[in-house]
Amino acid sequence: MSDFIIDARDIVKSYREGESRLVVLRGTDIRIKKGARIIITGPSGSGKSTLLHILGALLKPDSGDVFIKGENIVKVSEDRRAEIRKDLIGFMFQHHYLFSEFTALENVMIPLILSGRSEKDAKRRAIHLLELMEIAERKDHRPNELSGGEAQRVQLARALANEPEILLLDEPTGNLDHKRAMSLMEILMKLNEDTGTTLCLVSHNRELEQFFDYRYAIKDGKVESEN
Ligand SMILES: Nc1ncnc2c1ncn2[C@@H]1O[C@H](COP(=O)(O)OP(=O)(O)OP(=O)(O)O)[C@@H](O)[C@H]1O
Ligand SMILES: [Mg+2]
Repeated sequence: MSDFIIDARDIVKSYREGESRLVVLRGTDIRIKKGARIIITGPSGSGKSTLLHILGALLKPDSGDVFIKGENIVKVSEDRRAEIRKDLIGFMFQHHYLFSEFTALENVMIPLILSGRSEKDAKRRAIHLLELMEIAERKDHRPNELSGGEAQRVQLARALANEPEILLLDEPTGNLDHKRAMSLMEILMKLNEDTGTTLCLVSHNRELEQFFDYRYAIKDGKVESEN
């Protein structure tokens, strides 16, 4: 088995555009070591979100393989993909996908309850995570009553709920001012140091590169190392 927690090989992904196809990823590889901190930058439209969704078992490539802890997630059943997402992966989306009919607190509790925790236990942990994100005072508000940056912090709390081994972050500082962006990065670095959570972040913001050990850029549909 390889020492990579994520090992993606020869990934091709295109989208249909009327009669033709827009090829976003043109046969690219990316390998991520367990516990590493990696960042992938690239301009808007270069395929960052597409790649991250493929690595997170949310989207299938047209061709290529993605091994997570040695298991090819492209080849397994949809049920197994859902299980891998639940057990191993925390995902912070670029555009927030909180459940609109639930409060911030309930949004963080949901993955905990789905993983079998009691309501009391889930509530205790959800409040702890919201406090860590300095958003606990907004816990009883629904997503449409939160600012963009507040919703993003609730999303991160939710992504961390089940202590994922792999945290995938899509433009996590997009709605944050500089100060909050830096404090979010500090939370992520501390998490990586304390728990060894593997971090993979995509962003157009190159200012974030300073926090990462491995730096990549997407160019012409391929991921290239910048180290
Ligand atoms: N579901 C889709 N159907 C058709 N085209 C899509 C779809 N999703 C993305 N695209 C196109 O694929 C390209 C890559 O999109 P993607 O969202 O991966 O870029 P990105 O690097 O994350 O951009 P941004 O920095 O703006 O978030 C873009 O040209 C986008 O318009
Ligand atoms: Mg994107």
